[in-house]
Formats: sequence, C-alpha cells, structure tokens
Amino acid sequence: MSPPAPSPRPGILQIEKYVPGESQLAADETPIKLSSNETPLGPSPKAVAAFQRASAELERYPDGSHAALRKAIAERYGLNADRIVCGAGSDEILSLLAQAYLGPGDEAIYTQHGFLLYRIIILANGAAPIVAPETNFRADIGEILSRVTPQTRAVFVANPNNPTGTYISFDEVRSLRAKLPDNVLLVLDAAYAEYVRHNDYEAGIELVATTNNTVMTRTFSKIHGLAGARLGWAYCPPDVADVLNRIRGPFNVSVAAMAAGVAAIEDQAHEAAAVTHTEQWLGWVTAELTKLGLDVTPSAANFVLVHFPSDPNKGAAAADEFLKARGIIVRRVGAYGLPNALRMTIGMEADNRAVVSALADFLGRPAA
Ligand SMILES: Cc1ncc(COP(=O)(O)O)c(C=O)c1O
Repeated sequence: MSPPAPSPRPGILQIEKYVPGESQLAADETPIKLSSNETPLGPSPKAVAAFQRASAELERYPDGSHAALRKAIAERYGLNADRIVCGAGSDEILSLLAQAYLGPGDEAIYTQHGFLLYRIIILANGAAPIVAPETNFRADIGEILSRVTPQTRAVFVANPNNPTGTYISFDEVRSLRAKLPDNVLLVLDAAYAEYVRHNDYEAGIELVATTNNTVMTRTFSKIHGLAGARLGWAYCPPDVADVLNRIRGPFNVSVAAMAAGVAAIEDQAHEAAAVTHTEQWLGWVTAELTKLGLDVTPSAANFVLVHFPSDPNKGAAAADEFLKARGIIVRRVGAYGLPNALRMTIGMEADNRAVVSALADFLGRPAA
C-alpha cells in the first residue's frame, strides 16, 4: 500500500487548467499574434520609461499601500482612492474576491460563455459553479436571476465579456443588482471597459459608489498594454476593500508595475489612440468577415468572435490550422463552449488585412 499523500481541497482537481492564447509557431517565424486581446499599439512610451526608471532601485520593497497608483486612478476617474485595491493583474483581484467570499456549500453564478477564470476561482475555493445560459452570446439577466438560491454568494459578469465581446447595458446591470439578494456580491469585470463606445454602457463605478455589495474590476493589461507587468485594480465598497486588503500579499504589486501604471493612466492621448484605432478596425474586420459569409458576434471590445460553417472542412479547427500555416495565431474557444468559433484580437492594419485575406482564401472567396 502506498503511504498517504497530501491531497488538495475538494474542487481543486475538478479544475481544468487555464490555457493561455498561443504565442509561438515554428521557431524561425515571427507570428501575427492575435490570440490574447493585447493592444497592437503597445504601452505608452511614458509607461515604458517609468518601468525602466524603476529598475534603479530593485532592492527596495514596493509601497504596499499602492498610494501613488491609487491616487492616479482616483484622479483619472473621480474616485475615492480609499476604495481602490490594486493587484497583480485583475486575475489576482478576482481570485482574492473568491477566496474571501466563497467556500464549501456556497454557489457562484457566471454565464455560459463567460470568462473561464470564474469557474477556476469558484472551484478553487470549494464552491459550486452555476452556469447561466446566455441569449445570442449575451449575458441574460433573467437566466442569472433564476439560478439564485439561498446558497448563492456571488455573481461574476464580464462586461464586455471575453470571448464573446458582447456587453449588457447599465439598465440591465442596475436591474440585476436590484433583483439580486443584498448578501450576493456582484462582480462586474470591466477589463475591456475603455473600448466600449455605447451610450448605454457604464463600467460599474456608479453602482459601486451607491451599493455595498458590488465590485468593479479593471486591468492595465488590455488598453494600457501592460499585460506583462501584471497590474489590475478593483473599485469596492469600503468593507470589501478592507477584506481584500487583509488577505492580499502585503507587496503584491511590483515597483515597476506601479510606476508604469501611473504613467499609463495619465497618458490619455495614448489611450485615445488605441480607442480610435480599435473602433476603426473593429468595424472593418466585422464588415469584411461578414462579407465573406462568416457570422461575427457584434463586439464592444478589441476582439471579435467569429463563427464558422458547420462543414468541418470549413470549420473553426480547419480555419485555425490554415491561419497558423500563414503565421497567424488566433484563439480557439472550445473551452468556452464555442467549438466552431475563433476569437481574433484587432491588430494593426496589416495584421487585420492578413487575417481577412487568409480567411477569404480558406473559404475560397474573393478577398476584400
Ligand atoms: C474578461 C477578463 N477579465 C480579466 C482578465 C484578466 O486580466 P489581467 O489578469 O491580465 O488583468 C481578462 C484577460 O484576458 C479578461 O479577458
């Protein structure tokens, strides 16, 4: 008989590991990487300079209160800095929320094609993941509410959602909050908020300010181009901020990441350039792929979800192989319950044109 071995908490071995977007093809090729919703414009040069300056004092611990970063974020959005909590990516903040508010016997709801991290963090804390169906690849408030039980402790909504790109209006979010029991934490994951160009959208600031049970998470990984630095933040009710600050690592954000974050959030011109670029090319890519006969889910973010024909020769897996052979990496989304779709990040003009022309060839249609 083998000796007893350490065993993890229940739920952990049910977790399917998160598979990040691929970043490499054959060793000698520089691919067009459109698989992780990174900005093709890169970070603000001011953020890069700040990151480099931070290397002069690497022997020093960072400011564990993240004061300068919280101040910069608060000034940018008109927020109360005391309610901002920073983390090593919004992944860390989401994990801390699950760790603090979920445990065995609890349930937490996320949507059918919702960001996969939610399932991981729910299971990691021994709680039960409850999936609410979406309607037309959009979160459906009614379906979420109908799955609430006395065991429900949290609801995670990515708005806009990854990988669908769809969003729900502020009216819908407000109605969801109003109908959820007060003891249920509503987590609005607004990783792509800066990209949204719709008047009926609100990232979550207003609800966080006016309720004691709603949290909004944000990231520097997407529009600010700092995915490699690992930096995110949450705007929280005071009690939730207090809870997160008790359990987070005392030095969870590095000196360099904080310095880059301050410079990035202050460089509004760089952010505006990314918004303009994305708006233009999101529209172009959506129109061109639609002309090719592909179904593109209307996106409010910096990526599109593209649905392929049911003929396996023209399906998502074959398209993915075809694109890879052309040096283009997009994202398979079978793990999100979308086996016949691909998610493509909006890239630079040449990248976008390369994808459209490759897919035209793949489908045997004339290119744009
Ligand atoms: C919806 C959503 N939330 C959160 C994240 C996590 O971002 P990060 O941990 O880099 O801040 C991502 C990244 O892909 C995302 O798509």
